[in-house]
Amino acid sequence: EPHWPEEVDVFTVPHTRMKKLIHLYNNLVTSTDFRDKIHLTCLLQNLHCVFTELKAHEQIENTYIMGELRNKLHAASIRNPAVCNCHSDNRLTEMQDLVMDGYQWAEKPQRERQVYGRKLRMALEDFTQNFLPHMDMEEQVFQPMLMEYFSYEELKALKVKVIKQHGIS
Ligand code: FEO
Repeated sequence: EPHWPEEVDVFTVPHTRMKKLIHLYNNLVTSTDFRDKIHLTCLLQNLHCVFTELKAHEQIENTYIMGELRNKLHAASIRNPAVCNCHSDNRLTEMQDLVMDGYQWAEKPQRERQVYGRKLRMALEDFTQNFLPHMDMEEQVFQPMLMEYFSYEELKALKVKVIKQHGIS
């Protein structure tokens, strides 16, 4: 596994936080009794917070990392579609919609809440199975590109900015 000095590693710290969130929602969804309206509503509120944070992570990466990387590649006349499309297929918006839909399902009879529960559980599993390799890809493909096209000092500054935007200290 490649290893980067911590001060220029822009992905590992935010991704540790994102993996914690994944762990959190796995625990929550496993322990939720979907027959119980209060349980379900509480889960939805937690998921809403989780996906808001995941979405913020994506936006920070788009703005501060991919945007900057694209500029560097453009300056070097290199076109790399992976850099443009890296967040086009990670289903975050779909997940946010599914969570918002849940509030309507919470008002329905018990059996229907269970149907929603199964759907939500599967969607979360699916999301996780896509998102974990996505983060690996960023660490293994984009971090080396950053090392190549940014100066060490630029990357140090970028890391500070990225961490600050995430509100992680
Ligand atoms: Fe770091 Fe694009 O998730």
